[in-house]
Amino acid sequence: MKLLLLSGSFHSKSKSLLIASYIKNYLKDHDCDISALNTLPFYSEDLNLDKPDNVTEFLRSVDKCDGIICITPEYNHSIPAVLKNSIDWASRPAFKSPLKEKPVTFITQAEGSVGGARAQAHLKLVLDSTLSIIFPSHELMITSVSKMVDENGDISDPDTKRRIINHLDAFIVFTKRFGVSD
Ligand SMILES: Cc1cc2nc3c(=O)[nH]c(=O)nc-3n(C[C@H](O)[C@H](O)[C@H](O)COP(=O)(O)O)c2cc1C
Repeated sequence: MKLLLLSGSFHSKSKSLLIASYIKNYLKDHDCDISALNTLPFYSEDLNLDKPDNVTEFLRSVDKCDGIICITPEYNHSIPAVLKNSIDWASRPAFKSPLKEKPVTFITQAEGSVGGARAQAHLKLVLDSTLSIIFPSHELMITSVSKMVDENGDISDPDTKRRIINHLDAFIVFTKRFGVSD
């Protein structure tokens, strides 16, 4: 199965990227790609008429994947711009975009006690507009995220690992069952 991992942050100590790497490693029997969303320009109608190569490549990877996993922090009670921008690119043409009927799920994380719940709710609203298939699940929010990661950058908390693995296993089953493959 081809899976696209979309991170909401790209700095050198990004917990989202760390979790994305953990997922890629856990799902090594699948083809997981962590997209470099931070290299995409801001969406514009002009650029959409003459797309830069990396945008074309990103849109192709959205089109070809079986499912999408967004792993993101919450920024100011919402979705980080880098992730929202990638969704905006992939959302055209409206209602016929590569995101249509694409299974998607979300993992949000934060230091705070709600684990990015507002970003997760906003992602659901946004990906509803693209007619994506939102994985109906026990939502995965990771709270106090720094405590879940050790000095080597690994996920050290067994409960967090278990919750991530359970979520991924269920998403794979869901995607096989409900995903539309060509
Ligand atoms: C611009 C900005 C806004 C933030 N807003 C929130 C917020 O609204 N709620 C929250 O829980 N954390 C907020 N945070 C904290 C991050 O979500 C948190 O540190 C997260 O773990 C960072 O993830 P990362 O390591 O993947 O970048 C914000 C951080 C930044 C940089």
